Amino acid sequence: MTRKGILIIFALLCLPSVLLAQSAMNTLVVHADAPKGTISKYIYGQFAEHLGRGIYGGVWAGENSSIPNTRGIRNDVVAALKSIKVSAIRWPGGCFADEYHWKDGIGPRADRPKIINTNWGGVTEDNSFGTHEFMDLCEQIGCEPVICGNIGSGTVKEMSAWVQYLTSDGDNPMTQLRKKNGREKPWKVKFWGVGNETWGCGGIMSADFYANELARYSFFLKNYGGNALYKISSGGLPEDYNWTETIMKKWKGADGWLQGFLSGYSLHFYTVNDWSKKGSATHFSESDWFATLSKTLQMEELITKHSAIMDKYDPQKRIGLIVDEWGTWYDVEPGTNPGFLYQQNSLRDAMVAAVNLNIFHKHCDRVKMANIAQMVNVLQAMILTRESEIVLTPTYYVFKMYSVHQDAALLPVDLQSESYTNGTDSIPALSVSASRDKEGRIHVSIANLDPTKAQNLRCALEGTTVSRVSGEIITAATMNAYNDFGKPEAVNMQPFTGAQLRDGILTVTLPARSIVTLEVN
Ligand code: AHR
Repeated sequence: MTRKGILIIFALLCLPSVLLAQSAMNTLVVHADAPKGTISKYIYGQFAEHLGRGIYGGVWAGENSSIPNTRGIRNDVVAALKSIKVSAIRWPGGCFADEYHWKDGIGPRADRPKIINTNWGGVTEDNSFGTHEFMDLCEQIGCEPVICGNIGSGTVKEMSAWVQYLTSDGDNPMTQLRKKNGREKPWKVKFWGVGNETWGCGGIMSADFYANELARYSFFLKNYGGNALYKISSGGLPEDYNWTETIMKKWKGADGWLQGFLSGYSLHFYTVNDWSKKGSATHFSESDWFATLSKTLQMEELITKHSAIMDKYDPQKRIGLIVDEWGTWYDVEPGTNPGFLYQQNSLRDAMVAAVNLNIFHKHCDRVKMANIAQMVNVLQAMILTRESEIVLTPTYYVFKMYSVHQDAALLPVDLQSESYTNGTDSIPALSVSASRDKEGRIHVSIANLDPTKAQNLRCALEGTTVSRVSGEIITAATMNAYNDFGKPEAVNMQPFTGAQLRDGILTVTLPARSIVTLEVN
């Protein structure tokens, strides 16, 4: 090729960003020619704990229920979860995990012992939903189980026996017990949490004490047959960087033992403004909306700082950061059991979901899984149920809209965003991420956090030629709109027509308080 030819091609490739430079509005450059890693589908994981109506009533109806079910599991809930491509479910807790003794939840249901759920409302847990039921749920949805073992009140023997019960096909008492309980073939279980919040409800341990326990437990959780466990360490409090340092130091170790046994490190972060006064899920002011979004943006800082520590010990990024609890936490709905953590879900929650998913995408080199808390009827849920009724929340629709990013190649972006200001405080008005799927389609997701002002965006896609754009939008008439039983949906996904493509430049008008995903090809 001649020098002139090379110059022309170079100029054409750079044209979109040159055109952008002329504008003062929000600008975005998507580096379509420089993919940077894969957005793991496990970022779209869920968390389902024995808490309130998260399992009982939410997932489990029971075989004799009039609610349509398959082996006791609600058909409507399974269908809804399949439709958003749920990739993984973490179970049985949470705090519940560290007082759960798995043998209570196997065998004939009538013979299973009843226990008190001391963490969540002191209610009776009859163990009718146990290991077989959970694995059945995952098989019906087509997702990976993420089992969190009991380190707080359990033993190494108990946890390693659970792994054997689930995954071994050898001649041993646990395999025989599983077969006696009706499951001939072992299951495949990849993700395994070695305790939950071990700094608190998982045993009030120090980082040093837990690091030793982690090594001991992890060593005895074995791989059987072709099953390979991806063991996940408990993390500390969200800003406990010393905890991360301690575990990573242990992982790196002089002997290197733990390197062979540990694959993930957990981070939990809830979006709460004030733990003593969390506020209502649906009755809130613009200042509350702003405070919630400002708070949730802290996820970026937390991931960056924990990742920096992990990079020191693990520059090759062999250990994944697993954000296995995240989401909003408000006051419970009036009149409901305070121990059940049942809250409504508004457009504000949809915005929180979009912002966090964008952050996880950006850090997909380190963040290998995330599990929103929680899947049904608890905290920032996808689904709410009332007897046989079901509501799909605004957060559900974000997961549906964003499912196009699952296992897609992350496309780095440069965003110049206008500010969204409330009083004297400001945050960026826009939150963005982009990816290219296996069929070559580019998806750009953009959230306009400003609840009252539309935003115009000019977007250049570098290193590619595109000719078509289509899109979908989630928005509503008010910032606190939500979906409720017996009413038409106030928030869902609609076709979006506010994007135009000309000379390789996308111009988008984002309505106030909206989340849009564009497909360009
Ligand atoms: O999701 C509710 C609780 O929050 C979980 O049980 C616990 O791990 C966390 O503190």
